[in-house]
Amino acid sequence: MISIPDAAAGHVYLVGAGPGDPALLTLRAAHLLKTADVILPDDLVSDEILSLASPTANIISVGKRCGQPRITQAGIHELLLEHASAGSSVIRLKSGDPLIFGRAGEEIAFLREHRIPFEIVSGITTAFAVAASLEATLTDRTRASKLILATAHHAAGKVALTPSWSGAFPEEATLVIYMPGRDFEALAADLIASGIAPGTPATAVSRASTSEEQVHVATLETLRSSDVGPAPVILLVGPDVDKDAVRAIAERRANLAAMAD
Ligand SMILES: C[S@@+](CC[C@H](N)C(=O)[O-])C[C@H]1O[C@@H](n2cnc3c(N)ncnc32)[C@H](O)[C@@H]1O
Repeated sequence: MISIPDAAAGHVYLVGAGPGDPALLTLRAAHLLKTADVILPDDLVSDEILSLASPTANIISVGKRCGQPRITQAGIHELLLEHASAGSSVIRLKSGDPLIFGRAGEEIAFLREHRIPFEIVSGITTAFAVAASLEATLTDRTRASKLILATAHHAAGKVALTPSWSGAFPEEATLVIYMPGRDFEALAADLIASGIAPGTPATAVSRASTSEEQVHVATLETLRSSDVGPAPVILLVGPDVDKDAVRAIAERRANLAAMAD
């Protein structure tokens, strides 16, 4: 029997919700969801995950769609302060892992500044869930000794990867790009210009780990925006994803879903 403490009064929890499938939540995250008074989720957190919250929880969505904030980061900080100071237990619920491209740094600095006790609860970041779903290893002792998690989205609203690199692209690296934008041809051209071979496998996964998952298996030179499914999308560059294996995985999932109906 595992004993997991309840969410504590006046505490804030920066919690990772994983890529979407509730089965991929940690036990700690699931228990905090059940016991917290206030939950501030991002847009990408699924309703299925929110349905695990206590029926009395106050759920306040603080998502920012397509870079157009409905609430500012300062507004989120104010909500954290207001509810924690009132003695509520508060979850700041982020997709994937809270420390990967989730602006957690700003929230941690704010919580420290205001002496609000907080805890960070890891989640499964999308890159890891997608690799598992595609049966593709992100590292390989003969081909990929480095793993780079990057974003093509800059705070200034620019979508371009090349300025992030100085010098040649590291060899034997797997690159995973979060928030790749919608212009995959331009992104691929940027990557080729930074030294990655045009024939390098590139796989775009849309809505990973949900029933709407779509996979576009290509190379940098054959990647086409029109073949990539709707947001959110993540791009894997490097691991050799086998088209036949992806098709077989999709068929297996469809059969399992049909059996469950
Ligand atoms: C603000 S970042 C948050 C990343 C998150 N903290 C993580 O660890 O996965 C949002 C980006 O994560 C990726 N992402 C999150 N959930 C996804 C999903 N279910 N399928 C594909 N990409 C996803 C997309 O690239 C999306 O633009």
